[in-house]
Amino acid sequence: MQEIAQPLLRWFDENKRSLPFRAHKTPYRVWVSEVMLQQTRVAAVLPYYERFMRELPTVQALAACPPEKLAKLWEGLGYYSRARNLQRAAQAVVEQYGGELPASYEALRALPGIGDYTAGAVASLAFGLPYAAVDGNVLRVWSRLHADDADISAPATKRRMAAEVQAAQPAQRPGDFNEALMELGALVCLPNGAPLCGQCPLQALCRASAAGNPCAYPVRAPKAARRIEERTVFVFSCDGRQALEKRPPEGLLAGLWQYPNVLGKLSVAQAIAQAEQWGVRPRQLEKCVERQHIFTHITWRMTAYYFQCGAAPAAFIWAAPSEIAQRFALPTAFHMFFEEMK
Ligand code: ADE
Repeated sequence: MQEIAQPLLRWFDENKRSLPFRAHKTPYRVWVSEVMLQQTRVAAVLPYYERFMRELPTVQALAACPPEKLAKLWEGLGYYSRARNLQRAAQAVVEQYGGELPASYEALRALPGIGDYTAGAVASLAFGLPYAAVDGNVLRVWSRLHADDADISAPATKRRMAAEVQAAQPAQRPGDFNEALMELGALVCLPNGAPLCGQCPLQALCRASAAGNPCAYPVRAPKAARRIEERTVFVFSCDGRQALEKRPPEGLLAGLWQYPNVLGKLSVAQAIAQAEQWGVRPRQLEKCVERQHIFTHITWRMTAYYFQCGAAPAAFIWAAPSEIAQRFALPTAFHMFFEEMK
């Protein structure tokens, strides 16, 4: 396995993308980028990352950020608990470590929201410590390289492959080795469709490529089907302001803002009755659109009614579009109805 490091690192030195989190690698910058990059593509992360670093350039700034501002900086990235955990961890780093991330895998792993992957990524990329950082890209590369048909969704498989990656790391550049595996997965050993084996620095070592079936890997047990939930969403406008409400502090999209909505697909008549029950006095139905939003475990099928209203009851917050754009963190599942109005 030691054979892997040299061709891989040479390829990485010549082919790695120039990305903002690869410039001046501080532990804080590495940490924030690796958290953002979980479950989110590099291209989608980039504008968020640059803005986040401008607004919150230090651990201290993150620790002290008002939660509403933090939610707004994360708006549209999804998996919002990542942002809340990031802040809780920053607060712990300020209190326990004087604002410097600890240079220890175990100490990092003990912080809120930092799992095996993030601890390994920060330990290796930022501190040069010999730990693996195994994400979906690395699992794919590794299972093809070894024609390993273990189920990569099983925690035991991830642990085993992480141990194998760690054993294959060169002593001098463990972080680059990890990042090179991720980069190979992103640029060459592609997930959908054929990988670009002709460009791969590890082709001569790759068992799946030799067998001519790289697409047979990785093996992943089928996921449980997503539950489908019908919802009816209300975009109420009154004197140019729209009704918003805050979601509960726990659960899906906790603490973020939303348009009022109810479970089930209501007819126009039922929607008007619901609006009247809230006291908004619907005057005119402007339009109705249907959209869906996919979360990890659930799909929302949404019917949205846009009503002009004659009353603005205080049970809702009434915000002008410019305020919604600047101040209220509206997750994508609802932001699409805001976009729809423009
Ligand atoms: N995905 C997660 N972290 C990454 C990194 N540092 N480089 C490329 N892709 C990544």
